Amino acid sequence: MKLGVNIDHIATIRQARYAGMLDSVNAEPDPVAAAALCERAGCHGITAHLRADRRHIQDRDITRLRASLLTKLNLEMGNTKEILDFALHIVPDEVCLVPENRAEVTTEGGLDCVGQRDALAPTIKRLQSAGIRVSLFIEPSPDQIEMARELGAEIIELHTGAFANATGTEQKEELTRLRSAADFAHGLKLQVNAGHGINYTNIALIRTVPHLTELNIGHSIVSHAAFSGLGEAVRGMLAAMND
Ligand code: PXP
Repeated sequence: MKLGVNIDHIATIRQARYAGMLDSVNAEPDPVAAAALCERAGCHGITAHLRADRRHIQDRDITRLRASLLTKLNLEMGNTKEILDFALHIVPDEVCLVPENRAEVTTEGGLDCVGQRDALAPTIKRLQSAGIRVSLFIEPSPDQIEMARELGAEIIELHTGAFANATGTEQKEELTRLRSAADFAHGLKLQVNAGHGINYTNIALIRTVPHLTELNIGHSIVSHAAFSGLGEAVRGMLAAMND
């Protein structure tokens, strides 16, 4: 199974302090430097979501990632003309189309490709004509998977959020939904990815879902990095203060 690291949260930390001051020499942490570290640690790709409100990743982050990544760039985006034009200019390796809603804290729910079929079809065609592989971030439900196939997407990313937030019997049911969806999609010759809310604990169950090619994981990896690196960061500052 391959790992795509979602680096939006690195940009979130930077924007919390340096929004509007990205030219400052102090603007940190840099998501492009973070991506290089993730690649050196063995990840297979970098995922970044350029949101319409630019709350974390900025256009120039994507431009710099495109120029510097050694693995691949998976651009997550809503289906809007502005972001589509940008994607066609940048030409990431993959685009994952996601629903986007201004008030949400993070992507909520999957893309309704059944309801949005007419809006999605031309976008998918244009991306594919530019040589970009297209992924659709959808709920693990057969009608959405069938529509993803009909729309000609190469990849689906199963939304694992409901599973990640569930416990007990409900979690078992969500896992069963994911397993059946992965089987169904694989039968339709779709590449099956998954993402959202995957962490160091629930990965043990996610691993049991068949046919998964790639997981996109962000929040948990960045949270873990903060804790595993905090002691070292404090020691480094103490040394800089007193040595
Ligand atoms: N995949 C998609 C399509 C997403 O929207 C997100 C969240 O930005 C992720 C994966 C990563 O989710 P998390 O940050 O919870 O690991």
